[in-house]
Amino acid sequence: MITGANSGIGKQAALQLAQLGMTVVMVCRNKSRGQAALTEIRKKSGSEHVDLLLADLSSQKSIRELVKDFTCAYDNLHSLINNAANFDYSLKTPVLTEDGIEIIFATNHLGPFLLTNLLLNVLKESAPSRILNIASKGLITHPWLTIEFDNLNGQKKFSYSHAYYHSKLAQIMVTYELARRLEGTGVTVNCIRVPNVKIDLNRARDLPWYMRHTYRIKRSFGITPEEMAKTYVHLVTAPEMEGVTGRYFDERGNEVKSSEKSYDKNVWKNLWDVSAELTHLSTEEKRN
Ligand SMILES: NC(=O)c1ccc[n+]([C@@H]2O[C@H](COP(=O)([O-])OP(=O)(O)OC[C@H]3O[C@@H](n4cnc5c(N)ncnc54)[C@H](OP(=O)(O)O)[C@@H]3O)[C@@H](O)[C@H]2O)c1
Repeated sequence: MITGANSGIGKQAALQLAQLGMTVVMVCRNKSRGQAALTEIRKKSGSEHVDLLLADLSSQKSIRELVKDFTCAYDNLHSLINNAANFDYSLKTPVLTEDGIEIIFATNHLGPFLLTNLLLNVLKESAPSRILNIASKGLITHPWLTIEFDNLNGQKKFSYSHAYYHSKLAQIMVTYELARRLEGTGVTVNCIRVPNVKIDLNRARDLPWYMRHTYRIKRSFGITPEEMAKTYVHLVTAPEMEGVTGRYFDERGNEVKSSEKSYDKNVWKNLWDVSAELTHLSTEEKRN
């Protein structure tokens, strides 16, 4: 299963996995964009084993429905790639979701957290299985950032980029905590830092001109989504990755260190507990 599979890296990873003969479940929030990508991937890969499920990762109700749809249709799950993310540069003030949570934290951290937790049973039953979370290389420029438990909704301070990097740091820390919790289950979880990857300029059409201009310049230094997707695919399929867990990788699949702050085990635990509370995990779901 790969989220955000209709565009960019997610679409290329879905295609490469389909070309390897894997059954791929694409999770997209928009039906027509999802179907267009599904048709393209089926055609290019020549595989019929590519399916589409719809979900908005910023909505907890939608994620719970996605998991119901998935478990009705499939008996096992060998890889979950939490790729979808909100990077809407135009946000100037916090926007709250229907769950009352700031939308970047909701989509980029709590969405993958909830989806992963609801799928843990099937991942364990399908073991060996793998989870891949996605962070950003840009976090290198935020070495002192830690989880701001008093600012999760951007109530104290908010900027788009601060909220984005904060949500990506949360993904790294939750990877470390989950790896600890999953010891001995045959389910591994790792995180990858994505560098500057060329984004589709059509997706920036609604942004102000100066932002489109910045994107255009940034694009010229970026690697392609195809290249980045190869590393996603390597991390979830390579035999040598069997049993490797709780690690952080760069775009070439080399293990790298995250910031010193990200190794604070007390913060991992608090983040886990707060995320479980904010996503209303039931006692049974918490036990998974
Ligand atoms: N590109 C870079 O330079 C870069 C750098 C660092 C990290 N990353 C990370 O790499 C990953 C992939 O990014 P990309 O470059 O491939 O970007 P992209 O082409 O914009 O793809 C993002 C995907 O996420 C989906 N998405 C966004 N919000 C969603 C929501 N609420 N529910 C469900 N799906 C949602 C988008 O769907 P829609 O089509 O419906 O919007 C799209 O399919 C992200 O985690 C991103 O943070 C990228």
